[in-house]
Amino acid sequence: MLQGKHIILGITGGIAAYKSVQILRLLRKAGAEVQVVITPAGKEFITPVTLSSLSGKPVISEFFTANTGVWNSHVDLGLWADAMVIAPATASSLAKMANGVADNMLITTYLSAKCQVFAAPAMDLDMYSHPSTQRNLRTLEQDGVILIEPADGYLASGLVGKGRMEEPEQIVKVLAEHMATPRDLEGKKILITAGPTHENIDPVRFIGNYSSGKMGYSLAARCAERGAEVWLVSGPVSRTTPAGNVHRIDVTSAREMHDACVELFPGMDAAIMCAAVADYAPAECADSKIKRESTGEITLRLVPNPDIAAKLGTMKREGQKLIGFALETNNEHAHAIDKLRRKNLDFIVLNSLRNPKAGFGVDTNQVTIISADGEEHDFPAKDKNIVATDIIDVTL
Ligand code: PMT
Repeated sequence: MLQGKHIILGITGGIAAYKSVQILRLLRKAGAEVQVVITPAGKEFITPVTLSSLSGKPVISEFFTANTGVWNSHVDLGLWADAMVIAPATASSLAKMANGVADNMLITTYLSAKCQVFAAPAMDLDMYSHPSTQRNLRTLEQDGVILIEPADGYLASGLVGKGRMEEPEQIVKVLAEHMATPRDLEGKKILITAGPTHENIDPVRFIGNYSSGKMGYSLAARCAERGAEVWLVSGPVSRTTPAGNVHRIDVTSAREMHDACVELFPGMDAAIMCAAVADYAPAECADSKIKRESTGEITLRLVPNPDIAAKLGTMKREGQKLIGFALETNNEHAHAIDKLRRKNLDFIVLNSLRNPKAGFGVDTNQVTIISADGEEHDFPAKDKNIVATDIIDVTL
């Protein structure tokens, strides 16, 4: 997958810089052309002579080459590269990347890069867990950088913990896998719903369900990786927004999710309705906390929520695809087919709560995808990230 690819290897000033040599060797062995860009601090840890010998190209570090005055164009480099990997990425360089502090050749190249950027953080465990580092990492993720998380292990400081740069083999594997991902959804606009909805009873209580959002967020991540522009309408979950072209719209209730989806759907090529939407909401929401002492026994009157998927089914125009999920506990197949027809879906993804490897909360799912034409695809239990790829392959 890396054969003939143009890779910028960015090296910053950390002890793990010695491992960059191995990354460079593996990339070259896989047939990639590699341009090393190193920060001034990086050169304290590894010499440009080693790096230029192995890459077959002069190492770039400064804006101008000493003696000749030749300008190293970060703009040209940014256009040349198919991918940029910054390994090791120190806390300081990550902070500069997150805030656009373009005071060295590596950061200006990062800011000019049109390609996918990967960063492999490497630092001491306390620096890694510091709120400012974590804030910068979240910003970079939102900016579309793929972070290759550091591993737990012995650190140069003698401490043990998270902060050790991932092994070169793993970093190159992530890069190769990314290169192998087809960009077959380029130009497509996809709406995805994820997570639960919360229907408020009073300012502190709600009716909800156990959806963690993992299935929907995995779908959003895989669609974005394959080039789609994604609108992720998310119920209340604690998950980070997937990297890439993902617009996240946070909602709380089914009514809010309904309004966001109805507004977005006309501009979409497809919608995947993965959220576990509450079918009912309390008829009234109390303005203040209901007090047991003064209220005593209460009866909640519930009214049906709008069926979002069914509504989009009525709006669907020629060429748009609508994919729903069915979460069932009994008569799974019959209920799924009924929902497929009733909601005018093109596909329904059936998962059963009777299967401990499927449904809410767990990292795996086992699905059957049924099309409106009656075709069925049965899959074994897999990680939700891989299930997402199966769903995309069959439905989009
Ligand atoms: O979030 P995770 O923990 O990873 O769990 C994933 C999941 C179990 C939530 C997911 O795989 C799943 O099954 N999502 C759909 C859950 C659900 O609400 O299913 P349902 O059979 O009740 O609804 C059928 C379809 O109609 C769904 O596409 C649902 O999004 C949609 N719906 C339901 C009710 C409603 N008022 N509006 C809707 O749009």
